[in-house]
Amino acid sequence: MGYQVRVVLALLLQASWLLFLQQANAAGTNKKGALKGRKQANGCNLFQGKWVIDPSFPLYNSSGCPFIDAEFDCQKYGRPDSVYLKYSWRPNSCSLSRFDGVDLLKRWSGKKIMFVGDSLSLNMWESLSCMLHASVPNVKTTFTRRDSISSVVFQDYGVTLLLYRTPYLVDIVREDVGRVLKLDSIEAGKAWLGMDVLIFNSWHWWLHTGKSQPWDFIQNGTTRLKDMDRLTAFFTGLTTWATWVDHNVDPTKTKMFFQGISPTHYLGKEWNQPKKNCVGQSEPLTGSTYPAGAPPATDVVNRVLSKIKVPVYLLDITTLSQLRKDAHPAGYSGEHAGTDCSHWCLPGLPDTWNQLMYAAILSM
Ligand SMILES: *[C@@H]1O[C@H](CO)[C@@H](O)[C@H](O)[C@H]1NC(C)=O
Ligand SMILES: *[C@@H]1O[C@H](CO)[C@@H](O)[C@H](O)[C@H]1NC(C)=O
Repeated sequence: MGYQVRVVLALLLQASWLLFLQQANAAGTNKKGALKGRKQANGCNLFQGKWVIDPSFPLYNSSGCPFIDAEFDCQKYGRPDSVYLKYSWRPNSCSLSRFDGVDLLKRWSGKKIMFVGDSLSLNMWESLSCMLHASVPNVKTTFTRRDSISSVVFQDYGVTLLLYRTPYLVDIVREDVGRVLKLDSIEAGKAWLGMDVLIFNSWHWWLHTGKSQPWDFIQNGTTRLKDMDRLTAFFTGLTTWATWVDHNVDPTKTKMFFQGISPTHYLGKEWNQPKKNCVGQSEPLTGSTYPAGAPPATDVVNRVLSKIKVPVYLLDITTLSQLRKDAHPAGYSGEHAGTDCSHWCLPGLPDTWNQLMYAAILSM
């Protein structure tokens, strides 16, 4: 394709993205109402609240959990403070049920639960595995950790927790021209069939550029580009996922969750500490709101979920996680290079995500 054609296409895409945003704003009240209705089924929004110290936290000790990757094991790799382990989420208008791992294992007896997405899925999958393991420390488990599919099986209960790694949900295909990110192709979905619970997540990799970008071209239909607006790409890819869900998921057999956008804390200006990032942070922000507001990717998630027909429960963890600038590994992440203000220590914040998922399951 000629350079001019590509420029025109890029401009068209930007223009359609602006139009899309305007429509999203205009439709905002209705769409948001629908989503809120879904998550307030029991008369309470679990995701509005604040962090409080709870002496009974954390829910497990990382040294007793056989499933934690080094990059999340902050205590083992020398994190000196421990107050961050003690915070518990308190919704404003109801109390959050305490996590009961034995009850959840019984409910899930004979079932297969699969997390699908990037390393934030890995983070939440390892957290849930540790939470369940701490409830039944003496039961037999088998643990398989691979790049594509990993699993933890609680044999006595017949519960299988799977992790399928696919950072974009849609496919990357090797072709003669190079690696092509196909926004309209989701062949990987074949591996997600037959599950009793599916928990999806995607976003962080849509922002990757340069060496950490695992594709050379981005393609939708027959239009192949070198690059495009990343929010538009995310919207298109997530719409492909939503169509896949509507065609392949039977809601009477499979419970569906979407793990909301997990925030990062690289830019202290977002919370009025312009010279800082997550390094050295030992306390959450007080209150219930994040100074910088929600990241734009949350609009994309809300817009796609408002159109999907199969009920998908949004774990709306963005704001409560934004408050936890203290909960990242920073430098205490094993061999992991650099400062990690993107993932979360275990035990830690993802335990609350799982506690919220458990509360949602109880309310269904
Ligand atoms: C976790 O267990 C180890 C080994 O028993 C212990 O030294 C450590 O203090 C415990 N950590 C916490 C946070 O309780
Ligand atoms: C991608 O293709 C679909 C189906 O043809 C179309 O509806 C959508 O607008 C396209 N998106 C972009 C960003 O090109």
